[in-house]
Amino acid sequence: SETGSLSIIVLGASGDLAKKKTFPALFNLFHQGFLSPDEVHIFGYARSKITDEELRDKIRGYLVDEKNASVKYEALSMFLKLIKYVSGPYDSEEGFKRLDKAISEHEISKKTSEGSSRRLFYLALPPSVYPPVSKMIKAWCTNKSDLGGWTRIVVEKPFGKDLESAEQLSSQIGALFEEPQIYRIDHYLGKELVQNMLVLRFANRLFLPLWNRDNIANVQIVFREDFGTEGRGGYFDEYGIIRDIIQNHLLQVLCLVAMEKPVSLKPEHIRDEKVKVLQSVIPIKDEEVVLGQYEGYRDDPTVPNDSNTPTFATTILRIDNERWEGVPFILKAGKAMSSKKADIRIQFKDVPGDIFKCQNQGRNEFVIRLQPSEAMYMKLTVKQPGLEMQTVQSELDLSYMQRYQGVSIPEAYERLILDTIRGDQQHFVRRDELKAAWEIFTPLLHRIDKGEVKSIPYKQGSRGPAEADQLLKKAGYMQTHGYIWIPPTL
Ligand code: BG6
Repeated sequence: SETGSLSIIVLGASGDLAKKKTFPALFNLFHQGFLSPDEVHIFGYARSKITDEELRDKIRGYLVDEKNASVKYEALSMFLKLIKYVSGPYDSEEGFKRLDKAISEHEISKKTSEGSSRRLFYLALPPSVYPPVSKMIKAWCTNKSDLGGWTRIVVEKPFGKDLESAEQLSSQIGALFEEPQIYRIDHYLGKELVQNMLVLRFANRLFLPLWNRDNIANVQIVFREDFGTEGRGGYFDEYGIIRDIIQNHLLQVLCLVAMEKPVSLKPEHIRDEKVKVLQSVIPIKDEEVVLGQYEGYRDDPTVPNDSNTPTFATTILRIDNERWEGVPFILKAGKAMSSKKADIRIQFKDVPGDIFKCQNQGRNEFVIRLQPSEAMYMKLTVKQPGLEMQTVQSELDLSYMQRYQGVSIPEAYERLILDTIRGDQQHFVRRDELKAAWEIFTPLLHRIDKGEVKSIPYKQGSRGPAEADQLLKKAGYMQTHGYIWIPPTL
């Protein structure tokens, strides 16, 4: 593996994403020994004129909590010492020249042994400044080639607002950096059970013959949160739930559920298959969409009083290929709902010629619970234990908390940042993949923006509009009544 100096530059260092996700992930990597203090230096860059110490104070509280502070105390102060702050505007040569100087000084100081100059730029910034910032990085801050190594940039959604703006952004960045240098983060791809999808599907004989339209009735990919937009109303109102969750996070999950087996595990082979499945999705029909907006959403002073922005959506995607024709993929996401969870629910068809007459008791379902309480469980019908011959719904349950006691599941960002350092693009969105994802949703999004598809009000803390449940029923989803899987507790 590569050695030599590694500079991680967090642009937008005092923003929300940096404080809540980027720095904590870097700290955890450091704490686990993945970032060696002999090689690594971390730079924060932002506009505000603060000192190194002030930046450290701003982020310290996000790195440890009361419970682990004493264990991590030593690591914490070592980590904070690695952070240097440079202030400057996002479009000025002068600021980026100073940044380059700071990085170069560090590279020289760490050049004790042979090694390279690795520079990772993490853009924890709004996409409107991606183009100027990328330009500045390219002009002033790329690695010094005589040292070997690389320059990479990490960007995060929203990548544009529709197909056109996304393509524009892609070509602006693409004119400056090569695709292998660009890491588009979708943090759902860093979740443990999302990463498990390909193993599950392609390493288990049990699933191979069942995973198709002959056996599967419908697939649901669901995200719920039990809180509203909470202070992010201004951002959210411009985007809405489809751009915030469905077009990226849930669609990425859909790719992994629906794609064909890749030729190998090489990142390009995997991403090729994801693109193919996205390209097989046919245009979304208005009657297969239900939008909702929770009551009280517009009370946020940053949200216009007549906003039609959905905070909830159910949309049905149809994949027009040999494996999936006729199987609805139901993507559903909502804020201010009754619970907080994300799961994939694969519902199988009824048993033909059912001699037990147990159809109305429930169909087989295979559920992958992404969060919280990571688990996979398979709902099946068994004989009710006892003297009578009766059937009942039960489950085969693989709950991670129970099965993998003492194993701590890494945070999505931790894993993904490590991949950016190692140069593995498997869990990042490729440019053509992003384009295909926007192609699916752009016509619908434009109609919503024009007010041609309306959001139905729903109560906070509810299941969303009743129309969404009716749509599910129409699509053939059969809810199992009277049976709930209860995650085991230790
Ligand atoms: C972000 C969205 O991408 O994902 C947020 O912008 C959302 O609105 C968050 O709350 C959910 O992430 P997670 O990992 O908590 O499911």
